[in-house]
Amino acid sequence: MCGIIGYTGSEDVKEILLDALELLEYRGYDSAGIALSDRAGVRMFKCAGRVSDLRNVCRRETSGTETVPGEPARSDGSAERRVQCGIGHTRWATHGGVSDANAHPHQVGKVTLVHNGIIENYRELIEDYDLGGSLVSDTDTEVVAALLNRFYEGNPQEAIRKTVSRLRGTFALVVMFEDHCGAIYTTRNVSPVVATLCEQGAMLASDLTALCRFTGRYFVVPEYHILELREDAVRLTDFDGNETEPEYFTVNWELNSAGKNGYPFYMEKEIMEQPQAIADTMEERVRGGLPDFSADGVPDTLFTDCERICVIACGTARHAGLVAQALVKSILHMHIEVEMASEFMYSDPVIDEKTLVLAVSQSGETIDTLEAVKYARRRGAKCLSIINVRGSSIARESDYVLYTNAGPEIAVASTKAYTTQLVIFYLIVARMALLRGVFTTEETQSYIRELQRTPDTIKEVLGKRRDIHVVAGKLLAAKDLFMVGRGLDYSILLEGSLKLKEVSYIHSEAYASGELKHGPIALITQDTPVVAAVTQEKLMSKELSNIREVRSRGADVVIFIKESIAGNLAEEYELITLPDMRDEFMVMPASAALQLLAYYVSSDKGFDVDKPRNLAKVVTVE
Ligand code: M6R
Repeated sequence: MCGIIGYTGSEDVKEILLDALELLEYRGYDSAGIALSDRAGVRMFKCAGRVSDLRNVCRRETSGTETVPGEPARSDGSAERRVQCGIGHTRWATHGGVSDANAHPHQVGKVTLVHNGIIENYRELIEDYDLGGSLVSDTDTEVVAALLNRFYEGNPQEAIRKTVSRLRGTFALVVMFEDHCGAIYTTRNVSPVVATLCEQGAMLASDLTALCRFTGRYFVVPEYHILELREDAVRLTDFDGNETEPEYFTVNWELNSAGKNGYPFYMEKEIMEQPQAIADTMEERVRGGLPDFSADGVPDTLFTDCERICVIACGTARHAGLVAQALVKSILHMHIEVEMASEFMYSDPVIDEKTLVLAVSQSGETIDTLEAVKYARRRGAKCLSIINVRGSSIARESDYVLYTNAGPEIAVASTKAYTTQLVIFYLIVARMALLRGVFTTEETQSYIRELQRTPDTIKEVLGKRRDIHVVAGKLLAAKDLFMVGRGLDYSILLEGSLKLKEVSYIHSEAYASGELKHGPIALITQDTPVVAAVTQEKLMSKELSNIREVRSRGADVVIFIKESIAGNLAEEYELITLPDMRDEFMVMPASAALQLLAYYVSSDKGFDVDKPRNLAKVVTVE
């Protein structure tokens, strides 16, 4: 959570920082700030609100200023003040409410600092070092700035080392020292920082989205190291002062794929990108019609030696795991658990060297998932991660990684990451079925052929977006809503319901339809619309009975139904028909339809679809 950026180089620092913050805003968007440094000092601009508000603050506060730190060279001779160095932050509040004073950067004495993470012992630090008098905000971050300033005697590395040795918690700190102009320092524990040296200078950020406009090469700053950025050099040292070479990776994302491409919101763009993202995720992983992970370096023994599977994930990624659970049980007949990463370590999990852990995460940075992976590996389990962001923390902590090739996902509501995670699960199940003798070669090929139809079936659903928009229009007034289905349909709806509630703020609950009469049916009235999924032929008649039960209590019902089983239900119910696939693959077209439903409800209500209130894209606090 929180987006951080640092840049030193020949370009317009202020613009680079502001543009980068806009790209990072999905990590947190309740306040924003930048600090610009030149030989005359460091100047801060910050405010509660969005980066667009910060732009206004910068415009207002710099108009008429003769020499604005960080601005490009002028022809009038003020070029000697051009230092080209600055840091920025977009915040998701943890300690201290949303206010101008609590926005980052924080400045104490010669130190200017931005921070992502949580300093758990900030109160002790205030007491132990008597820092209270100098603080003007309620944040844990300002305490770190004050401590750094206390230890600073002209040597940045020394002050950082001393400070970090007193911190408890997670942090990515980015610091400028007033008398070391042109230099930016960063250090971290858990919270991510990536960096690069490119044609335009040196830059760092909390994730790649902000860097990939400039370069395809980046490195991850290792934990408990200090990185010093200068216009033409980066210097990485460990805490003993030993210099180490950064290990560069290459970004697999097109440099311009992080833009909206003409769509009003990223969420819509990302929903529409799914056919391509799914095809990209399968590419290289199907050979001779069979699933193949050799290009990923994942050995078959991983799938043959395990006795049980444990999926660890949060939110949407966990919902992908629930679909996998149904597949693993019905096809592989294996024991599988799907764990909420945030509960995992506190639930005495049964994990050992015979457990294959599948960690799922779009960002690869979700702290609960990261900590759960570390825990499982300490218990001897092998961990295969399904991740979208290359080189992310979970990817680095895992034994093996299968990357979803979804490209940057910017909207807070996860869409293409979910369906590409599902694709990887389908491939894993098929590979395991083949290796463990559950499927013959022909059966595996037939299963993969069906999977390869998904880009086309999703395209077909996207072609029905107008019909889905009309249905969305009927839900705008709802305060509460139920989504009901059985088996895989229930799993699909758990995700559909999360999508709807996070972007539309309608209270939506997914319920296994057979459970309704054990309590929640008491809530069904004519004011409680019901969205049902009917995609599993063998469950259809029972699902329809449950739908009739809510209908007879006055609920308006819309059914997302597999086309070939819809019969004449359109005479009775509002239907969205979904292109036919084998039952176990119906999750794919159904998910795309439910994503569109959530999207249209939110956009028609006039909400900022990509940045729902209180949320952030990357959850790096426990
Ligand atoms: O980056 P991750 O996949 O680990 O994120 C997990 C959840 O935070 C995420 O899926 C969240 O639930 C989304 N906002 C759902 O749309």
